[in-house]
Amino acid sequence: MDVTRDRAWTTLTRYTTSESLLRHALAVEASVRGYARRGGEDEELWAAVALLHDFDYEIHPTLDQHPQDGAPLLREEGYPEDLVEAVLSHAEHLGMPRDTPLKRTLFACDELSGFVHACGLVRPTGLDGLEPKSVRKKLKQPSFAAGVHRDEVYAGAELIGLELDEHIANVVAALQPIAPELGLRTNADAAV
Ligand SMILES: [Fe+2]
Ligand SMILES: [Fe+2]
Repeated sequence: MDVTRDRAWTTLTRYTTSESLLRHALAVEASVRGYARRGGEDEELWAAVALLHDFDYEIHPTLDQHPQDGAPLLREEGYPEDLVEAVLSHAEHLGMPRDTPLKRTLFACDELSGFVHACGLVRPTGLDGLEPKSVRKKLKQPSFAAGVHRDEVYAGAELIGLELDEHIANVVAALQPIAPELGLRTNADAAV
């Protein structure tokens, strides 16, 4: 099978209706795709993995099922093993090795994309003008976006060999073009 973004989207939306889960998938896709482009990697594959990493979360909302019970569903649909393995590797509790750039990038983008998204939601101009410094400050406030695992954000940046500020700036830049899809305001809205 040819792995494409469109095919991954079709699979994702067959299992997922929650707007927040779809937005999370889109945010992680944008971040991972940004890194694929910079690294000259297979953008369609990377985007598909990012879109699908939590595809079964709505039907398997607990860690005794997610994402491991989603893997057979992906195989049934004909997705190749490298995609399935990359999807599984994002889960800390499975302890799988993150032995490819794709796996490392997915892990690095998962929690941080959610966190940057949350930062944008509380700002009148969304992501416009959002500096890494203020994202870092918010990371130190445990009550803000409390569901985001800070240790995974820090470990992720280290895993892809970037300073946290640079990683944050990359993720902010990746999410900016899809701000409307993420329900974020922009400078243009603020000017109205
Ligand atoms: Fe997950
Ligand atoms: Fe996720």
